[in-house]
Amino acid sequence: MADRYVVVGNPITHSKSPQIHAAFAAQTGQNLTYERLLAPLDGFVASVEVFRAEGGKGLNVTVPFKQEAWQLCDALSERAQLAEAVNTIKFEDGRIVGDNTDGVGLCRDICHNLQHALQGKRILLLGAGGAARGVILPLLAEHPACLTIANRTASKAEQLAQRFQHYGQLGASSYEALAGQQFDVIINATSASLSDALPPLPGGCFAPGSLAYDMMYGKGLTPFLLFAQQQGSAQLADGLGMLVEQAAEAFCIWRGVRPDTTAVIAELRAGLC
Ligand code: ATR
Repeated sequence: MADRYVVVGNPITHSKSPQIHAAFAAQTGQNLTYERLLAPLDGFVASVEVFRAEGGKGLNVTVPFKQEAWQLCDALSERAQLAEAVNTIKFEDGRIVGDNTDGVGLCRDICHNLQHALQGKRILLLGAGGAARGVILPLLAEHPACLTIANRTASKAEQLAQRFQHYGQLGASSYEALAGQQFDVIINATSASLSDALPPLPGGCFAPGSLAYDMMYGKGLTPFLLFAQQQGSAQLADGLGMLVEQAAEAFCIWRGVRPDTTAVIAELRAGLC
């Protein structure tokens, strides 16, 4: 019998995770199935328990259940604990063990796939919601010169900076206060792209040779990436690579094998066109 995995969310129809994990399983010769599981908005925990009772081995968690998953787990990695969000669960010795692979997925995409080292760089993170919180610790682990969090509601950025203050050089800012400052890497972790909006970033923030990274992805450039292009940013990237890399890290947690992501990213990219 193949080992069973699922991705749980609501909605879930558009999740690309089954395609990604099927490609990983084929590539590494792992005998597993990976399906979508739609949980009712008020039924996340019950859905997980049913899946576990049926013999499921582990699951990915997506919107809007990552925080509930964090509360449900019996044991957590440090990065999941600090992110207050879990996207990967493994059932292990009767326990529910939670991790968050989003941040390492982002860092691996930037440092390995895009060949843009983060050590010593000035990083600007836009947004202070769940998506931003999930990537702060792994970004700091790359030893940037500094990490500035900017948010429309500046107090939320300040709270996040305080929460992670012992883990690296962190600052918080409003968008207006960014005027006159430059950054080597600017990451959009806001949900603005979802509504085709642009975070109110002042002009002139992209340093020469800078990378602009939008955690969202789709066909064509997001409003943030279009703005970055107009501002002369040297390298533009969307979040498709991060999606595949966070999946690879989850696969590795479950199966102990790290799949190669290059072909899978290319396959998904071709599917977007
Ligand atoms: P997620 O889990 O995707 O991070 P969230 O917790 O709702 O979602 O957070 C959304 C983030 O995007 C917030 O930082 C939000 O800013 P506020 O805290 O000020 O609301 C940010 N955001 C959403 N739309 C935005 C826009 N048009 N411009 C700038 N920031 C935006």
